Amino acid sequence: MLLLAALLGSAAPLAAETQVITAARMVDVLTGRMVAAPVVVVNDGRIIAAGPAGSIAVPAGARAIDLGDLTILPGLIDMHVHLTSDPRLGGDRQLRYVRSFQAVIGVAHAAQTLAAGFTTVRNVGSDGYDDLALKQGIEGGYVPGPRIVAATHAMGATGGHCDTNQYPAEFDFPRPGIADGPDAIRGKVRELHRRGAEVIKFCATGGVFSSGTSLGAQQYSQAEMDALVAEAHMLGMKVAAHAHGNSGINSALRAGVDTIEHASFADSTSFELARKSGAWFSMDIYNDDYILAEGAKNGVPEENLAKEREVGLKQRQTFQAAHKAGVKMVFGSDAGVYPHGQNARQFAKMTEWGMTPLEAIQAATVNAGEALGRSADVGAIAVGRFADIIAVRGDPLADVSILLSVPVVIKGGNLVKDTR
Ligand code: ARG
Repeated sequence: MLLLAALLGSAAPLAAETQVITAARMVDVLTGRMVAAPVVVVNDGRIIAAGPAGSIAVPAGARAIDLGDLTILPGLIDMHVHLTSDPRLGGDRQLRYVRSFQAVIGVAHAAQTLAAGFTTVRNVGSDGYDDLALKQGIEGGYVPGPRIVAATHAMGATGGHCDTNQYPAEFDFPRPGIADGPDAIRGKVRELHRRGAEVIKFCATGGVFSSGTSLGAQQYSQAEMDALVAEAHMLGMKVAAHAHGNSGINSALRAGVDTIEHASFADSTSFELARKSGAWFSMDIYNDDYILAEGAKNGVPEENLAKEREVGLKQRQTFQAAHKAGVKMVFGSDAGVYPHGQNARQFAKMTEWGMTPLEAIQAATVNAGEALGRSADVGAIAVGRFADIIAVRGDPLADVSILLSVPVVIKGGNLVKDTR
């Protein structure tokens, strides 16, 4: 039943045969319409036909998966997660654990994420190539989890948000993603690419959960960001910029980044730059509720909680303004800062701050697929793409919060969760 593939320890896909999935309704994220009585034909993990019953020829001998009165939609995509982080280990608590502990908890978090209906995630920063280990384990069929687009080490400036600043030199930690100056930055991008990074994540400004950084402060010069983005794009990788402060956001946009993470203090200039360059905003607007409610209990130092109080409401207002200004949006939760498997909590925040339910769902499906550069594979129930499909009870276009409970998850044609 639950997470079959893992329980069987199956290294091979369970379903290479042809399957026919039927349900009561389908959210077509490409047209924005609800399709009644959909039929989806799957072969070897990919969709070979999809549409309303009657319009689709059902191949003889196909295995039927009838989802009854449920509504199907594409597997969800979270563009900003840290699978190897646990929000309950705030401040220095993480120092009690051996290095490989992060990979171990990553296994549990990957399973929770998939069970929540997120069939693809972009992991934007982890230590020791743990994200690649998880990806290999998942793709090999050893453990259940979403498809992972891995950034490996987050890049950033010495002393910046992606560095570790809170300890004296005697207790320093190696931060393999740190590089300063255009040449060293180009070299680091090449190195991460060689190791298996598929996207480059870098810190353009200070952040909430770092010590000694201010949210507004830019941390790479324009020349440094230009070099980073040019190199990554030359190697065929997208670039995600962590950026709260305005000047860092605008420099990153001028450098041509693909996504701005957080985007808290973006202004009308940023909106214009994003519209011109086609960059997406990935705004983690649920986080504030969790951090302020649980942060102190989780061991988060007051320095960081104070920064959260500076940014929470402002970020939501910026989200509303950016959306109104026509900035393209993807769904990015920063799960890891709040508990994995609860990613979908952000949907209701997105509608509370100006999106329709359809727009919030598109941010987590078709938009995210496009922003990843993987529209051929993920983001919609459409011919050619992976059969990554979830089913929910009721109409998510009327109430997006029903995505909090996902009884059925299909990944690559494999029924990995069925708790109907
Ligand atoms: N990783 C981010 C940072 O440290 C989390 C920000 C969370 N807060 C928020 N309001 N989105 O900056």
